[in-house]
Amino acid sequence: MIELFPSKLLLGPMAGVTDYAFRRLLREMGLEYGVSEMISAKGLCYGNDKTADYARAHSSDHPLALQLFGSDPQFMLRAALYLEKHYIYEVLDINMGCPVKKVVRNGDGSALMKDIKLAMEIVSKLVENTSKPVSVKFRSGISEDSKNCVAFAKAMEKAGASMVVVHGRTANQMYSGRANWDDIGRVKDALQIPVVGSGDITSLEEGLDKIKHYGVDAIMIARALRGNPFLVRDYKKYFTEGTQPETVSLEERFSTMRTHLKYLIEEMGEANGTASFRKHGLWYMRDFPGSAKLRDRLSHLQNAQELDVILSSVVDR
Ligand SMILES: Cc1cc2nc3c(=O)[nH]c(=O)nc-3n(C[C@H](O)[C@H](O)[C@H](O)COP(=O)(O)O)c2cc1C
Repeated sequence: MIELFPSKLLLGPMAGVTDYAFRRLLREMGLEYGVSEMISAKGLCYGNDKTADYARAHSSDHPLALQLFGSDPQFMLRAALYLEKHYIYEVLDINMGCPVKKVVRNGDGSALMKDIKLAMEIVSKLVENTSKPVSVKFRSGISEDSKNCVAFAKAMEKAGASMVVVHGRTANQMYSGRANWDDIGRVKDALQIPVVGSGDITSLEEGLDKIKHYGVDAIMIARALRGNPFLVRDYKKYFTEGTQPETVSLEERFSTMRTHLKYLIEEMGEANGTASFRKHGLWYMRDFPGSAKLRDRLSHLQNAQELDVILSSVVDR
């Protein structure tokens, strides 16, 4: 059983973005269900330390799904058993949706949607031989004329998956066009296990609309959280207190940026943490009027003191 919490919002995993530090921050905003960046099963089995780092989580970062990718059932099982032994998490998620070339050329990620039998073998092996519930994240299909998300979802359910997450784009679309929520709705109608929908949700209103119209058990948000972790709080507050979103003050935006950088530095050290923060800094200030110069300074940020200087120059202006 996978428990979906009141806010009906799952964090959409983003490699290079939803790392240890960002998830820690999102938990403070009220995130109830986190998902790690994707973790290579082979990388784990070969003892790659950098790969194993993706499985680490702050003590507040639970319930958490660790997401594995790979297509060799034996490696997947070994990797899952390794995770069980060394890390704390609640759900094992399998990535069968990644469309990136270097992943699919090995038969991993969305390439598994072409081989339902192998995908089922992976899921049933993990369900039978490990102790955590298994979820599967995939897309509408590979291409517009070979959409197979309903058949694929049913196969995952049959193989023992406890939940599926469907991103309503085909692998060939990558991130272009719009997510097709009718595909997600069809999967929901065909399954008994919880179905989570992913794609293009940027506000509380849009998420509520999708839950209502497509009957999904929860929604997942990825890109819209970049520079806007406050959206998580909108969901939490709506579902627990019935309140509508409030505008985020500049002071809060800035203090959140400082905290985000602090967590990154704690995790990665000053140089790497600051380098990793630069993109987030730009996302936080994306809609700030007349901020070209500010964004330029953020994109060259060197340390936490400099962030203080940059942000106080905005307040003083
Ligand atoms: C930069 C980036 C990295 C991503 N990395 C992953 C990943 O590691 N695992 C995964 O299942 N999905 C990954 N996704 C897909 C998202 O989780 C999500 O399904 C997709 O972006 C659609 O949702 P959105 O419109 O809310 O962003 C990634 C997306 C982006 C933009």
